[in-house]
Amino acid sequence: MDKPDGMNKVESHDLTIAVIGVGHVGLPTALGIAELGWNVIGTDQDMEKIRQLEGGQAPFYEPGLQKLLTKHLRSGKFTVTSDVVSAIRAATVLFICVGTPQRANGEADLTQIEGVARLISHHLNGYKVIVEKSTVPAVTSLWVKRTITRFAMANRFSERNSDRQADCSSETCGQKLPIEFDIASNPEFLQEGKALENFFNPDRIVLGVESIRAQKILERIYRPLDRPIIVTGLATAELIKHAANAFLAMKISYINMVADICEAVDADITMVASGIGLDPRIGPDFLSAGIGFGGYCFPKDLRAFRHLAEERGVDGSLLREVERINAERVDRFLEKLRKTLWIIQDKTIGIWGLAFKPNTDDTREAPSIRIIEALLKEGARLQMYDPPAARSMQRIFPEEPDRITYCPTPYQACEGAHALLLLTEWEEFRKADLQRVATSMAWPILLDGRNVFDPEEVTRAGLEYISIGRKRARPRNAATVGYDVPSDLIHDQPETRFELAD
Ligand code: UGA
Repeated sequence: MDKPDGMNKVESHDLTIAVIGVGHVGLPTALGIAELGWNVIGTDQDMEKIRQLEGGQAPFYEPGLQKLLTKHLRSGKFTVTSDVVSAIRAATVLFICVGTPQRANGEADLTQIEGVARLISHHLNGYKVIVEKSTVPAVTSLWVKRTITRFAMANRFSERNSDRQADCSSETCGQKLPIEFDIASNPEFLQEGKALENFFNPDRIVLGVESIRAQKILERIYRPLDRPIIVTGLATAELIKHAANAFLAMKISYINMVADICEAVDADITMVASGIGLDPRIGPDFLSAGIGFGGYCFPKDLRAFRHLAEERGVDGSLLREVERINAERVDRFLEKLRKTLWIIQDKTIGIWGLAFKPNTDDTREAPSIRIIEALLKEGARLQMYDPPAARSMQRIFPEEPDRITYCPTPYQACEGAHALLLLTEWEEFRKADLQRVATSMAWPILLDGRNVFDPEEVTRAGLEYISIGRKRARPRNAATVGYDVPSDLIHDQPETRFELAD
């Protein structure tokens, strides 16, 4: 017996997959699927992105992405087009990876998803599985299904009318679409900076489906990964994604709140985090205290999840607190700087790290943005360094002589500085020559917003060290590095100097 359309293609490996939207989610997904052996067409409405991809250039930095792009443009497994319609028509499986920005009230703006659904409705030229991969509130898949059905019906009706063949009393008009399609939700759990690593080693693959056919096709696509697959309904799959991001954000705000208590009682947050993280019910990940979470996902998803809850009468106050604690991280960090320098005006501040996290050039909702804004407002001169993110930050804060400088090396960012702020934990900073840093600064003071260093090591290099949820630490013999901060400027410093525990 003939297999239903779609199944035969996937089994004979003669399946084309379109990825609509080739941003931070879509492009790693498209190239990952190509690496699994499938033919993938990537498409996007952003012509600049398409032009770069056609020229063989990854439009943003992500470890391993450029290599995989070059490989699969050559192998022909990945092709790219600005013609979204041709991609839709050529493919049996369509992954929707377009942006879902947020509105002022925190609600997700799903206009782009609706636009893609409408376009698909016009070009249903055979069975298709339409997979929603963008992070969206629960029930979006149902809306995508409804939208495609309604527009496809309306299209057929108007085509018939224009052919003067309309007959609304016939069974086919307004009743059933002659072309079948399935909707699925396959949320991504990719972290920027590790997107390909996450794609090839997912903890789980979540498939929200409504038909066995869609389930089988998607399972077959992901089979080479050999990872656990959870099959659910559509809304449940959507909720798994939202609940996972909100939980991780909650973990970060929780550890940040504990860090503040550590500062108040002279305890050490890194030890507290290790101590609780060894409990398998808690787990060690996402317990790094610091200046808070940023990026395109957590802040936006948290607001959208809270909005979804509150809109439906569910108490979202827990999520509100997570947001509030996160927003205060930057204020607390700036307060530490003010207590250390007293007056910010006319001080030179070195900044290490601008991206919202390491291994990405993404600065969207990065804590560094609010810190830079505040320091400029208070009259500081900034010397900033970030390997790949400087370029995107320059669009927000262009270079200005004697006020905003982007430095080619981390050491140049420290020269003559009255304080150095570490805002992103790039590996390069862990290996930096701290003695060189200390001797090149006007005042050797390091504020570490990510707890990258061992306080002993920093003070040995001659720097005063202020981190998060740990005691301030000063060099044992500050005078030897020509350093003398009046004690009234460090009035919140505990009397005891940093000592390593036995
Ligand atoms: C996050 C999720 O981790 C992914 O699973 C999800 O797929 C993605 O959002 C998404 O929704 O698309 P991402 O935003 O790329 O990934 O980055 P994370 O590694 O989760 O970090 C988010 C923020 O939290 C960063 O600013 C990071 O510095 C901060 N963070 C992370 C902490 O402050 N402390 C930690 O312990 C961990």
